Amino acid sequence: MIFLQSRSDLTVWDGGQAVPRSWMLEHVSDAEGLYCLLTDSVDAEILIKASRLKVVSTMAVGFDNIDVAECSKRGIPVGHTPGVLTETTADFAFALMMTAARRIVEGAAYVQNGQWQTWSPTLFLGQDLHGATLGIIGFGRIGQAVARRAAGFDMKVLVSGSSRNEQSKDKNEPPMKYVDLPTLLANSDFVTLHVPLKKETQHLIGARELKLMKKTAVLVNTARGPVVNSKALYQALSRGDIAFAALDVTDPEPIKLDDPLLTLSNCLVVPHIASASVTTRNKMAMMAAENLLAGLKGNPLPHCVNPEVYRR
Ligand code: DGY
Repeated sequence: MIFLQSRSDLTVWDGGQAVPRSWMLEHVSDAEGLYCLLTDSVDAEILIKASRLKVVSTMAVGFDNIDVAECSKRGIPVGHTPGVLTETTADFAFALMMTAARRIVEGAAYVQNGQWQTWSPTLFLGQDLHGATLGIIGFGRIGQAVARRAAGFDMKVLVSGSSRNEQSKDKNEPPMKYVDLPTLLANSDFVTLHVPLKKETQHLIGARELKLMKKTAVLVNTARGPVVNSKALYQALSRGDIAFAALDVTDPEPIKLDDPLLTLSNCLVVPHIASASVTTRNKMAMMAAENLLAGLKGNPLPHCVNPEVYRR
């Protein structure tokens, strides 16, 4: 913020909670630049009000909260933060997998509740990651970073949701097999989601897909909540169709306290923190600021979602 304060005339919402819609509608009409978070919906209504807007910059790699087509129509470039959060998010997807596989949250609660009486050969038996099969759905930067980690764990890796195939494989890639989604779901011990949220990926994992998975499988979502149909997930988890879900993202966010997923012992929910390391969040904030300042000056954004605005 200090970086931007010295370089622009800022109006900042600092109310702690997400920016209220009414506040945004009230203030956006004077703005030439909009620095937003993934919790802010930048849709046609906002853009119509924001008639002076030259740039929208989100402090995230995902931009499903922004009506990019509407921005493009108005010649407004949209900036985001690719690359800087890749490794941190992949670390976290792995952390969720390990937490689920080795029952770390349950074990910690057991100790805290004073239930630990003795060492036992069968206490909190879990699953091994090493040697298991990992299915990666979505093979962009983060999916690939997860695959690199999986190679270090001697996991077999299946990949879907990529236009690449065995023939076009990069020779530096860890060993993996490109398969279709049903094959991936049926053969993976762990399934991790790394697709952006779009019309085509909304409810990509629903009742039919969950049914295809192994009963012992763990589902990890660090992508976007609506990629999974949460009602179908609840049913699959409560019937034992899959063993466990570890969710960094939910639909909606925050998850409602009365959401049935929160009643399940085989579902772990954390508050959208996969990229939340100090270093990475600082890099994301700076990258978003640089995008914003470039747009205000009328320069091309270093990381632009809709570069077609420059070709008009
Ligand atoms: C993103 O950047 O899209 C993440 O969800 C938050 O880091």
